[in-house]
Amino acid sequence: MEKFVVQGGKELSGSINISGSKNSSLPILAASLLTRETCVIRRVPDVADTNYMIQILQNLGAEVERASGNVTIRSEKLRSHEAPYDLVRKMRASVCTMGPLLARRNRADVSMPGGCVIGDRPIDLHLRGLEGFGAVSRVEGGTVHLEAHDGLKGAEINMSGKHGVTVLGTDNVMMAATLAQGTTVIVGAACEPEVVDLANFLNAMGAKISGAGTPRIVIEGVEELGGAEHTVIPDRIEAGTFLVAGAIASPKGITLNRVAPEHLIAVTDVLQRCGCTVEISEHSIRIARAENPTGAHIITEPYPGFPTDMQAQMCALFATTPGTSVVRDTIFPQRFMHAAEMKRMGADIEVSDGTALIHGVEQLSAAPVMASDLRASAALVLAALTAKGDTEISRVYHIDRGYEHIDEKLMALGATIQRLPA
Ligand code: EPU
Repeated sequence: MEKFVVQGGKELSGSINISGSKNSSLPILAASLLTRETCVIRRVPDVADTNYMIQILQNLGAEVERASGNVTIRSEKLRSHEAPYDLVRKMRASVCTMGPLLARRNRADVSMPGGCVIGDRPIDLHLRGLEGFGAVSRVEGGTVHLEAHDGLKGAEINMSGKHGVTVLGTDNVMMAATLAQGTTVIVGAACEPEVVDLANFLNAMGAKISGAGTPRIVIEGVEELGGAEHTVIPDRIEAGTFLVAGAIASPKGITLNRVAPEHLIAVTDVLQRCGCTVEISEHSIRIARAENPTGAHIITEPYPGFPTDMQAQMCALFATTPGTSVVRDTIFPQRFMHAAEMKRMGADIEVSDGTALIHGVEQLSAAPVMASDLRASAALVLAALTAKGDTEISRVYHIDRGYEHIDEKLMALGATIQRLPA
């Protein structure tokens, strides 16, 4: 296990490139199971989660090569339709192999992912969606067994649940629908840019999908899909995390290149309202710390609302922003493990019923803290940037699941971070 030691008080400046999106790459890698032909996926970030997905594909029989961001996959002969527990338990997103396996093999046996630190995370909507094609599911021994003896049949499928839309659930159904007989209409679909990116990849493979990015997606099933090349979109959450780094620690400003500013409007709007200078170009964003920062009231919502994957980072910013800020997470109300760790650094945060009430303090002070999940750990690194002293953040394997070389990128901007054995 490794830890980070972050020296507080270093001002950030300069520029970095943002990596390809982790949350786009995962379903796109899984979608390569839908064809026997070769797929080439570019700008796949080198993070633990994409490596887990590649291991799952290899376990199913795919041949995979990975070289400097390009992943080449050939799933000509699948030897299995089973994603086992020892791989699935490492990463929930492995559930998005269900749709492609069911479409390609009429069968999928995928171990049930358990709950995780950000909440309960059920998969009922995925199963309801796939059953809409005529598949039958049963859970036995911790594994979901899905079968569709007569193949998948297109249908109208409603993907919305009591917590709103589901991103990977929409992905699973969209992937299954590409090879189903007839037309599928998904209503209540997630509109996230990662869903659109997956649809673009599937269309490049020969699928007939329209409406991705809206709540109604129409998919005309085809006989088979072919190989395709695709470049994944920039990671909007990595970009958002570095925007907050600039808002916390860069009076002169930092520039993020290779971003898609149109995917970040909810985040850049809030940062501007908080007083930061934000300059947006076609593929880059420059941000500088506010001279007179003000807090804000944020509620997470599905895209294009404020992303739940950015709420922990905003808590880090508000911890030292004068006045009172409110952060409410409607998507994962239990996702506030970072608050307790930030309190150890002197933050004044009260959490109840999925809402954090944050009274900004003048400065945080370094303390040993523990990373609990991907975004919470990123938030602790951000909080440490201006804390007094050296903050030790343990269990950084959480951060390595989804941020490509975050320590090196922050060091390129002038931060002092050491990665040490814990
Ligand atoms: N939900 C259900 N039933 C389901 C599926 C979801 O009730 O069958 C609920 C969830 O419990 C949650 C809400 O619906 O309350 C939304 O969950 P969603 O299914 O959209 O989450 P996901 O698709 O499993 C993706 C991202 C998450 C991100 C969420 C929300 C990937 C690989 N993961 O998860 O990213 O927080 O969408 O935007 O795309 C992260 O990157 O740190 C991360 C957790």
